[in-house]
Amino acid sequence: MSERPQGPASIAEFRIAAQRALPKMIFDFFDGGGGMELTLSENRAALDRIRLVGSAPVDVGNRSAAITLFGKPMAMPVIIGPTGLAGAAWPWGDLALARAAGRAGIPFVMSSAATATMAAVGAAGEGRKWFQLYLFRDRKVSLRLLERAEALGFEAIEITVDNAVPGRRLRDARNGFSLPFRWTPKKLLSLASHPGWALRMARAGAPRLEVMAAEFDLRSAGTIAEVMEQQLDPTVSWDDIAFIRDRWKGPLILKGLLDPAQGARAAELGLDGIVVSNHGGRQLDGAVASIDILPEFVAAVGGRLAILVDSGFRSGTDVVKALALGATAVQIGRATLYALASGGEEAVFRALGIIAGELDVAQAMMGSPTIADIGPARLRLPPPLVQAERVVVPREPALSRPQAFVAA
Ligand SMILES: Cc1cc2nc3c(=O)[nH]c(=O)nc-3n(C[C@H](O)[C@H](O)[C@H](O)COP(=O)(O)O)c2cc1C
Repeated sequence: MSERPQGPASIAEFRIAAQRALPKMIFDFFDGGGGMELTLSENRAALDRIRLVGSAPVDVGNRSAAITLFGKPMAMPVIIGPTGLAGAAWPWGDLALARAAGRAGIPFVMSSAATATMAAVGAAGEGRKWFQLYLFRDRKVSLRLLERAEALGFEAIEITVDNAVPGRRLRDARNGFSLPFRWTPKKLLSLASHPGWALRMARAGAPRLEVMAAEFDLRSAGTIAEVMEQQLDPTVSWDDIAFIRDRWKGPLILKGLLDPAQGARAAELGLDGIVVSNHGGRQLDGAVASIDILPEFVAAVGGRLAILVDSGFRSGTDVVKALALGATAVQIGRATLYALASGGEEAVFRALGIIAGELDVAQAMMGSPTIADIGPARLRLPPPLVQAERVVVPREPALSRPQAFVAA
């Protein structure tokens, strides 16, 4: 380590850099969660509770994090997941994310709420590109996007299903965050203290939801929640997924599962993958952390489809924890958004390098030269939450103090 590190050295530091770079209203949109943000913090707490077991001496002189997914190689088991409105972090942010992912040898998932067209993202860099599809109230729109994805060479489709209604994003409501941006005097003041961002946006023009704006009239749009609520369909069911399965021959992935029983249905229907996800704590506040429910998915469908997981992942050591519990790969959302906000494509590429470096150190220390070597023996887990049925509350005889105990 002779070189002095340039800029942030961890995703936590990129978050601080993003907070400095962005007006509060924009930072809060990226950083915030639903409701009281219980799940937002639980995602981190759950990952932090898990401990790694180092293992030495093992010959780890020759290490690789490469895996094959859907028949193609990737440099590490990490994917940049779909995040809408990336252009509010950096001009043409979607293209920067796609290019950086390509340079790092990992897939990029373009959002239906992207701020660039599908053609532009399809042409950005050399990497693997997947498309995240929403099932809109007007299904013809979703079908058109599916056809466009095929024509443009997108390799896989991720259907997001945890959006029956928008989550209650209190920070956005408090900040009056709306599309198109509305600038009150207070917000304009916040612009003055973030001149770099303001200048970049002035040059590039305010970001637009390009994919959705081509299909819907968004000119009089309101808050993000209102925009999404108008277009997203709460009646989506397994019939719709089966309909898409019939039409899309490439890898089909369902994103936003927390119920292992739904994972089993995905496998029965012949899907190629799932993303165990609570949407980064942005939807159902109080939802279980993805990492905590992951083992139940692995038990239910492991080996039948690819099990991806997201929500809260900020480091290579976080990634190792999911792999050891049986995940195929990890998707990241905010980790690369923070980097994007702090310095565009180059910063995203550096952030991916940091995660790769952390993963490599973990592999070396854990005696795991390949990803296949990382298994549950390399972890120690916290005591599990007790199943409610196992808690016995004695009614008789009357006790001086109420007591509950866990049945053996
Ligand atoms: C700002 C932001 C925008 C997002 N937009 C989308 C989206 O358009 N479609 C989608 O399926 N998920 C979206 N997500 C959820 C992410 O794909 C992912 O599930 C989540 O960010 C994972 O948690 P993490 O940010 O802690 O990594 C978004 C997340 C964030 C933070």
